[in-house]
Amino acid sequence: MPIPEADPSRLFALGALFGLPKPDRWRVLEIGCGAGGHLVPMSARHPDDQWLGFDLAGVPVQQAQGLAERLGATAEVLQLDVCDASEALADRGEAPFDAIVAHGVYSWVPDAARTALLDLCGRWLAPHGIAYVSVNSLPGWGMRGTLGGMLRYVAGDGAPERQTARARAFVGLLCSLVPENDPYGAWLRREEALIRKQGDPWLFHDLLAPINRPVWLHELVDDAAGHGMQYLGDAVLETMLPDRLPQDVQARLASLGGGQVQQEQLLDFVLARSFRRVLLCRDDVVLQRELVPEAMEGLHVVGRLVRDGPQRYRSLEGDELRTDHPLLDEVMGWLADHRPASVPVDDLARMGGPGEVERVRRNLLLAATRGLVELRQRPAGLVGTVSARPLADPIAQILVDDGEVPTALGAKVRLDGLEQTILRHLDGEHDVPALVDAVLTQGFQLIGHHGMGPQALRGWLEVEIPRRLAGMARTGLLVG
Ligand SMILES: C[S@@+](CC[C@H](N)C(=O)[O-])C[C@H]1O[C@@H](n2cnc3c(N)ncnc32)[C@H](O)[C@@H]1O
Repeated sequence: MPIPEADPSRLFALGALFGLPKPDRWRVLEIGCGAGGHLVPMSARHPDDQWLGFDLAGVPVQQAQGLAERLGATAEVLQLDVCDASEALADRGEAPFDAIVAHGVYSWVPDAARTALLDLCGRWLAPHGIAYVSVNSLPGWGMRGTLGGMLRYVAGDGAPERQTARARAFVGLLCSLVPENDPYGAWLRREEALIRKQGDPWLFHDLLAPINRPVWLHELVDDAAGHGMQYLGDAVLETMLPDRLPQDVQARLASLGGGQVQQEQLLDFVLARSFRRVLLCRDDVVLQRELVPEAMEGLHVVGRLVRDGPQRYRSLEGDELRTDHPLLDEVMGWLADHRPASVPVDDLARMGGPGEVERVRRNLLLAATRGLVELRQRPAGLVGTVSARPLADPIAQILVDDGEVPTALGAKVRLDGLEQTILRHLDGEHDVPALVDAVLTQGFQLIGHHGMGPQALRGWLEVEIPRRLAGMARTGLLVG
């Protein structure tokens, strides 16, 4: 599974906001990389960088190596226990890494492996490197973990499908036994809805996992300090700040004082946060905690917003933005209309002439802290509008038969049969009429409309293919 927030392009852009220099060439290590769903496509997209991953389990390592072969990717994947990894890296003569990623590992391994994971990060981070360690966090996961305890009890042993089926059935039963107007019943129903939304793999790997120990943010930061690291921030910038809470709540939180970690810990208490993507760096790095517009220089930006009326925008999460400043309206409009194409911040800053550079940077920074735009070190390489002869992302094209493909922004996109056929022909040579011909030549049938004659089917495709292409552009599958 791709992990958008652990994309080095995003990590180093975030680091730059806090004063860290951005590495030109990346050296990336992934701990517990599983079947390589993040590491391998990343390395295929950035072949001039160095990528190394390891996992304890043999089968996923083989799958990751197979994926690397399919994609012609440079990533090297090893079978290793995190407890032995430091020594193994030294034996291989490895240099320190600019980014170390451990997603979905820390909370799920025994104490010795957790300590080894932090030790590895502390030893192998480059002087300005960033470690990404995702964890299930307290207090949110404390409550969810209680439900997990009940579900593990009823799920028993056996094949994962049997365990998840029993667990799902039991949550349904519990909901029917506890009245909805009871606070416990209301909570159970919310958790049941989440289980339905996240699906069985999540239920099995998270709620039914034999080891799943959540941590307090302050506890993890203290443990990291014992390994020579400090808290840099959260990989999702907008979650570090209370800006999305009502003003009076923000003021009361601020009045409780404390530094960055204490304030974020209090925020976790308020939001009952259950998952965190913690970023760490070496403790001798002097961080610039006050966000300044100049730090935006040289970064690239991708819109995460849509138009919502004249001078009004809405983030993909539903937060509103209004601007009555014509230049900022133009900047935000460009980002909304071209999403998910990236653009250099400096190009947008120059839209209004030299006198407006600071204003544009400051507002883009503000938009980033609200989740309205995403910052990247490198261009995303995507186009948000459909050209006359579209060109698909080469990685999506190689993986098209899988029916689900990772995008350059880390999303996972499911494709139906028609979209798969279209994608196979997006080579920069086919316009819409040629795509219609190609789809018909492949013997495409409209399931459920078998009565449709060839002319009617052609007419339907002439409308449907442009619609699907627009969807592909929006989800990040087109590069030209
Ligand atoms: C929940 S999976 C996450 C996989 C991947 N990072 C992802 O996000 O899809 C946890 C991974 O950690 C690996 N793991 C568990 N203990 C480990 C250890 N001691 N050393 C290295 N990897 C380990 C597991 O084999 C598994 O692939």
